[in-house]
Amino acid sequence: MKRKEIEKQLKKELDKDRFTHTMGVMYTAAALAMAHGADMEQALYAGLLHDCAKCIPNDEKIVLCKKYQIPISEAEEKSPFLLHAKLGAYYAEHKYAIQDNEILHAIKVHTTGEPGMNTLDKLIYIADYIEPNRDQAPNLTLIRKLAFENLDEAMKQILSDTLHYLQEKGGEIDPLTAQTYEYFHNN
Ligand SMILES: [Fe+2]
Ligand SMILES: [Fe+2]
Repeated sequence: MKRKEIEKQLKKELDKDRFTHTMGVMYTAAALAMAHGADMEQALYAGLLHDCAKCIPNDEKIVLCKKYQIPISEAEEKSPFLLHAKLGAYYAEHKYAIQDNEILHAIKVHTTGEPGMNTLDKLIYIADYIEPNRDQAPNLTLIRKLAFENLDEAMKQILSDTLHYLQEKGGEIDPLTAQTYEYFHNN
């Protein structure tokens, strides 16, 4: 589907704040692609679709994943909101007819990250964290600057802050997030 058509559809499916966030991620991802000489079209599509499954109720997410035979990890069973990433990649492919596997992969790993993430994966992960409507995370000014200079440094800072935040509030840490942290801090 064309980007404008997808945008129209998402405006109906997402709540107002999520749609605003989505547009913020899309344009931030595009700007990061420009800064780092990456493919802007891929960044636009992945940014636009990254949260396309976010507004589905959590119990329904589980039902849908089972229906589409999407494997559910232990961490996802405990925190079903995580499933919006995998389910989003599924919808991007089957509902929005995206055939580019790199776009689908960036959507799939946007919540936890993944060791060995490629440039597009990082663009979306970072754009999701820094888009202009975000205002809660610590170090946002620093990370926004880093993001346009060095993607790996921005990833490191985001992953450290995310792990600290989860540890502090006693939240569930997805093993993939911990592995991604190790990957960026040891490479
Ligand atoms: Fe998300
Ligand atoms: Fe998001």
